[in-house]
Amino acid sequence: MSSAEIIDGKAYAAALRARVADAVATLKASHGLTPALTVIIVGDDPASHVYVRNKGTQTEEAGMVSATHRLPAETPEAVLLALIEKLNADKACHGILVQLPLPKHIDESKVLAAIQPDKDVDGFHVINVGRLWTGQDALVPCTPFGCLMLLKARVGDLWGKRAIVIGRSNIVGKPMAALLLAESCTVTIAHSRTKDLPERCREADIVVAAVGRPEMVKGDWIKQGAVVIDVGINRVPAPEKGDGKSKLVGDVNFEEAAKVAGAITPVPGGVGPMTIACLLRNTVVAACRQNGIDAPEL
Ligand code: GUN
Repeated sequence: MSSAEIIDGKAYAAALRARVADAVATLKASHGLTPALTVIIVGDDPASHVYVRNKGTQTEEAGMVSATHRLPAETPEAVLLALIEKLNADKACHGILVQLPLPKHIDESKVLAAIQPDKDVDGFHVINVGRLWTGQDALVPCTPFGCLMLLKARVGDLWGKRAIVIGRSNIVGKPMAALLLAESCTVTIAHSRTKDLPERCREADIVVAAVGRPEMVKGDWIKQGAVVIDVGINRVPAPEKGDGKSKLVGDVNFEEAAKVAGAITPVPGGVGPMTIACLLRNTVVAACRQNGIDAPEL
């Protein structure tokens, strides 16, 4: 029996995509500008190919130009860097995204550093990381930005709230903490070495779980009425569905947490859909900035 409000990320993402599509139509009509996103994927990881296909489809559905470069796993690093250089110089390309992870022979930090920061729609370049932490206009990583949008839609002003971010990755945990700090939350960044994690968690009005461990956060870690954002997407065996079947679960034990929380995101259908919607939003913002146009509020 759940008492928490279930935060419908699918619906929020659809609404954001619709706002992006409106903004794109306006940019075309008023400035003759069509934002364009180029995605590069190296290798043949099936899950990554699904993500990249979805990115392309949703980019086109928003009225933007989508290009995808699918490179073989053995692509030399220099070839990838040369492609990025070419896209950096291409005025008709406003956003560049290199799908991660990259094959082991390619130095990820070198590749991310090669992307022109104003085209870095993932927000992973150190310049954007620095801008985010110093309160300057940054392109912000899509998943934490999506989490923040969901939080603000549910909570409103986050000023003075106690937040805990569980996980310290560059993609989610660290930028999430920066965004919450910028909203004047008191932020704890927890990780695998954190002492007394359940107790720290119970102090929080806002819990963002991004550790990649299935159902690690238990119901009795959650303060009554807290808002829980579950970034985890973990595939686990589901024998109850039949032999060899599996299912997706988050980093939070949903059944338990939903009895205590004020609101919670489900998995799937919570944070997940927000990521690509925020990528589309970042592409519009990047295209506007590159053309000296005030970016719309999205
Ligand atoms: N792989 C998993 N998540 C992401 C993401 O947000 N951006 C990129 N480029 N690769 C990813």
